[in-house]
Parts: sequence; structure tokens; C-alpha cells
Amino acid sequence: MPDHRDLLAKPRLMLARRPHDPVDLPRRVTGRFRPACRAGTKPYDIICDVTSQPEEAVFLRACRREPVPYTPVWYMRQAGRALPEYRKARARTPMLTACATPDLITEITLQPVRRYGVDAAILFSDIVVPLKAIGVGIDIAPGVGPVVDRPIRAEEDLAQLRSLEPGDVPYITEAVKSLLSELSGTPLIGFAGGPFTLACYLVDGGPSKSFDKTKALMYGNPPLWNKLLGRLADITSSFLAVQAGAGVQAIQLFDSWAGALSPEDYRRSVLPHSSRVFAALAGAGIPRIHFGVGTGELLGLLGEAGADVVGVDWRVPLDEAARRVEPGKALQGNLDPAVLLAPWDTIAQRAREVLERGRTAEGHVFNLGHGVLPDTDPDMLARLTDLVHAGSGDGPA
Ligand code: CP3
Repeated sequence: MPDHRDLLAKPRLMLARRPHDPVDLPRRVTGRFRPACRAGTKPYDIICDVTSQPEEAVFLRACRREPVPYTPVWYMRQAGRALPEYRKARARTPMLTACATPDLITEITLQPVRRYGVDAAILFSDIVVPLKAIGVGIDIAPGVGPVVDRPIRAEEDLAQLRSLEPGDVPYITEAVKSLLSELSGTPLIGFAGGPFTLACYLVDGGPSKSFDKTKALMYGNPPLWNKLLGRLADITSSFLAVQAGAGVQAIQLFDSWAGALSPEDYRRSVLPHSSRVFAALAGAGIPRIHFGVGTGELLGLLGEAGADVVGVDWRVPLDEAARRVEPGKALQGNLDPAVLLAPWDTIAQRAREVLERGRTAEGHVFNLGHGVLPDTDPDMLARLTDLVHAGSGDGPA
């Protein structure tokens, strides 16, 4: 295991820039590393102090809809197969073993922060980790996704889902603690799967395009459905509480497949359970992000569930998304991850459009509309981070 301390040791440093100056922030003090920055007292000066308080980090300020010197950026699935160093670190370790090994969690979480200079790290884990931790027979098949030994279809299958105790996931607490000291200032995002998305894997038994069995249970047996989602909401809340207790500075609920539902069905069958998760985290005092794919028609409801930041996929432009969520929410998104496979000029043009539309939101965290695709050239993501930082500021994008 390499020692990252050298890479991450940052000199005490303060810089100021005018809004239209070329970006001269110490983006990579050593290696690719983004310092935490805060708005200065003068209206257009930016003071960048790598030792500033983590809660002043630009990512957290944008989540809180406070003024920011530039648009912060991170990428969903930023840790993963697009990175050669990830493939190397994971070479001999199955996915869920890696997710339970603190040294590997720490190393893989840091890799994209070094490489891309992003404004936030996301804990390397998976949405099925808490299920595995309570003894559900579940694994991640390479190139396929989560597969379940005994899918949940009847009342007696619920016995698989006991509650999650902090002692079930000691490696999460350990990894978060070690990351907080290594990251010194760059916020760490914790995450979990939303109750609906977890149910999709548990009921259908594995990846699916339309989640027929899951929806059949939802429509056909509402009492069992509500028991199932209730238990999943408890497990998810506990898993996020462990991460928050260990010190993550924001959390994201990935309800990736919620877009399979109409607004009415989402409101009736999912929203009460997801709301319970957000309510359980309210006391942590950290930004709560809520994301799902294909959720254009659900954006208002994703906010209503109790999120501070609503994640938007690439199908709805951010100015339109801003109209669809109630006031008091920041937005996150939303460059189509497939745009990263196009030539740089196209990427740059599309990213500028996202930034421009993002200005209409009360707060904007730049991200992709879904996870980084495995074929993405990491250099394009590094350039994109630079473009977002340079092209946001106070001037035109
Ligand atoms: O964002 C990050 O970098 C943090 C890591 C992260 C992983 N999974 C690691 C991972 C996060 C945030 C997730 C969330 C996750 N996992 C979601 C929600 C996000 C989304 O994409 O909508 C879902 C649906 C899952 C379930 C899951 N796990 C799938 C569908 C897959 C892909 C299967 C495959 O191999 O293509 C996984 C595996 C997985 N999770 C990988 C990684 C890095 C790939 C494992 C490998 O290297 O083989």
C-alpha cells in the first residue's frame, strides 16, 4: 500500500484572484489536489487557504446555496474502472471484499481526488454493502452488477433483513476516519442506496431493465411492499448514520432506478420511506443529496422527500430542473456521461452549457447525469474539472 502522506501534504498557502483572471488557484499543490477555498470579505476577491475549515469548502457552500468563487465539481462513480490505478488496486480483490478493507477503501477513494482535482471525495463502497453486512446472500458479479441468492417475494423472505448495527460495518468507520485525516479539507461524501433501488435488486434478484417483479410486488401486495421498504429505510438510515457519525461531510441517497415510477406511484409507494431516511439524517446537519436516473418527472418529489440538493440526470436541462424543484434546493448535475466519449471541443461546449444553465439554480454542484462510463479517458475528466473551475467564477461561462 503506497503512503499517500507525501502526496497529500499541503503547504500553507493563500492566493487571491480577480474574477476574470486566469485561474491561478493552487489546484494541484502536489499531485492533483484541490484545496478548500472560501469567499473573501471583498466582493470579488477569492482567498484560497488550504488550511481553511472543511465546512467552508466550496462544495459544501454550493450545497448550502451560499455564494461560491467557482462551481464545485465531482463525478458520480469517479472511483472505478476508468482509472488504471483502480484496476491495479482491485486486481486480486473481489468487489465486496475491497469494500470491506479499510486500506483499499481509503486508497480507491483518494485516487480520483488526486487525478481529477475534484472538490469532493465519495467513499468507495457500494449500495449493496449494508445488505451483505447483515447477512443477505448478495454479491456483485463483474460486468453484471448485484445478484441475490434468494430474491424477496413473500413475507417469510423478509427474515433476511434484520436491522444494521454499527458493529456490522466497522470497516466503514475505520475508512472514514483515515480518509478524513488524509483529505484534510476536501469534503467526503457518504452514500447509500434508496429503499426503492435496493428493493429492485432484492425482489428482481439482479439487474433488470424494467423491474417487473419489483413493480408486481409494489402493485400487488402493498402491505408486504411497505414492510419491505420500511425495513430497507431503517437499514439505509443506520448505514448513513454510521457514516455521518464517523464524520462524512455530506451524504447522497442513490435511488437510481426511481425513474421507473410515475409521480403518483412514487409519491404513494416510495416517498414516505425515502422521507424517513432523510428525516433520520436531519440532525447530522450535513447536506443531503438525492439522485435518480430518468427522474425528470420526479424532481420536485425528490426534493420534497427532504433533500437539500437534487441530483439531475442529463435528460432535463438545469434551468428547467430549477423550475421543477421547490425553492430552497440546490441542484447537482448534469452532463451526459457519454459526452465524455466525444472529442474535447464537444465536451467543453456541452460543459459550458451545463454551467450556464446551472446559474439559474440557487446552488449548483457540477456533476455528470449518471456515473462515469468505464471507457472514459481519465484525462478528459481532469480537463473537465479545470474547465468547470475556470469557466464558472463570476464571469460568463
Ligand atoms: O461514485 C463512486 O466512485 C463511489 C463508488 C460507488 C460504487 N457503486 C462502486 C462500484 C457508488 C456510489 C456505487 C453506487 C451504486 N452501486 C449504484 C448507484 C449509482 C448508480 O450507478 O446508479 C448502483 C445501482 C450500484 C449497484 C452496482 N454495483 C452496479 C450496477 C455495478 C456495476 C456492475 C458492473 O461491473 O458493471 C456495481 C459494481 C461497482 N460498484 C463497481 C464499482 C467501482 C464496478 C466493480 C468493478 O470494478 O468490477
